[in-house]
Amino acid sequence: MKEKELKNVTILDHPLINHKIAILRSVDTHTKDFRELVEEITTLMTYEAFKDVPTREVEIQTPLEKCKQQMVAENSIAVVPVLRAGLGMVSGVHTLFPTAKVGHIGLYRDEETLEPHEYYCKLPDGIEKMRVIVLDPMLATGGSAAAAITMLKARGCKDIRQMSIIAAPEGVKTLATAHPDVKIYVAVQDRCLNENGYILPGLGDAGDRLFGTK
Ligand code: PRP
Ligand code: URA
Repeated sequence: MKEKELKNVTILDHPLINHKIAILRSVDTHTKDFRELVEEITTLMTYEAFKDVPTREVEIQTPLEKCKQQMVAENSIAVVPVLRAGLGMVSGVHTLFPTAKVGHIGLYRDEETLEPHEYYCKLPDGIEKMRVIVLDPMLATGGSAAAAITMLKARGCKDIRQMSIIAAPEGVKTLATAHPDVKIYVAVQDRCLNENGYILPGLGDAGDRLFGTK
């Protein structure tokens, strides 16, 4: 896993993840496979992004003797998918860590201005004491991610991370500048945004491809 130049930004650039992203990008990959790939890629990313989760020591009796062992601390992690496309990543996290709490933030991008608009927010009780991982497969202008994190901070969250599959350099920079305290994990960084705010080469509209809406 390579740390790239911006502080707090990890671009995973892992061959197994890149292999799956190649299939994910293809225009010939349809909803069922797209959904499964988003889930699998998220599971692989979770392995990296969760490697410093809070743990607690427990004592275990094996068939041979007692030993001390680390386990993930209860009620320490919440994931917050940004609707809609972030929903596709939740099961990928739950595959590795089934007790992660889930909050939901609804944001959509205005097609003209590309500004994010909030329409929903429901977060687990006590989230302000948890590590919070914002899930959204696409980090384009970075506006939605920055707005989601601002909403979480306004509700008292302090330990926040962003996990996205594909990012544009513009979005990474915007998010890292707006929230320098937030660690950003992305699987790949693409070339740029087009004039409509879509990531190039990207994969098109993640929400539409996940839910078959177009
Ligand atoms: C997409 C995507 C992100 C956002 C990224 O959602 O899932 O939330 O765009 O763009 P940004 O970095 O420029 O803000 P969209 O607004 O299309 O909403 P939808 O998934 O509900 O269609
Ligand atoms: N949202 C998407 O779903 N895709 C992009 O390329 C940019 C924003």
